[in-house]
Amino acid sequence: MRKIYLVGFMGSGKSVIGRRLSYFLRLPYYDMDREIVRQQGMSIPEIFEKYGEEYFRKLETDFLLNFRDEACIISTGGGVAVNEENRKIMRRTGLVFFLDANFEDIYKRVKNDKNRPIVQKSTKNELEQLYFSRKKYYHLAGHIRVLTENRSIRQIVEYVAFQVNRLKGE
Ligand code: S3P
Repeated sequence: MRKIYLVGFMGSGKSVIGRRLSYFLRLPYYDMDREIVRQQGMSIPEIFEKYGEEYFRKLETDFLLNFRDEACIISTGGGVAVNEENRKIMRRTGLVFFLDANFEDIYKRVKNDKNRPIVQKSTKNELEQLYFSRKKYYHLAGHIRVLTENRSIRQIVEYVAFQVNRLKGE
């Protein structure tokens, strides 16, 4: 079976949904950011500060290219789907779900997060612009779009699991 990737903007619920989906489908779960942090022995803000964003983007593509070949759930970082090569790798090796949340909900979740360098250096307005400029890439990456607004985590997990089971054989 293929991998299940969750893409979407920061704070769209990729990690929470990924973890819960992992119990629901009995598949291992990996958080891409956490894996990169473990491999590098540095936090995301440290990687950004020491080596710059471009280097971090390379680590993301390396991760997608080299991560073990097993059926699993992977929550990606919010910038992963922007890169065409990343989109190709994900679509080739798995099923990609775009978790679509509205900006106000996202902003409430991320605004005080010290572990997200892009949030730290941006105003609300700048983040909103980034959100809209990235949307088309999430659409391009995703096989299936999941509307998360006004849905509970349980409802979202059940919907994704339903789609995974429906598309399993394809
Ligand atoms: C980023 C999102 C973060 C993390 C890094 C950059 C982005 O992941 O990869 O801070 O460019 O949107 P989350 O989406 O898990 O916050």
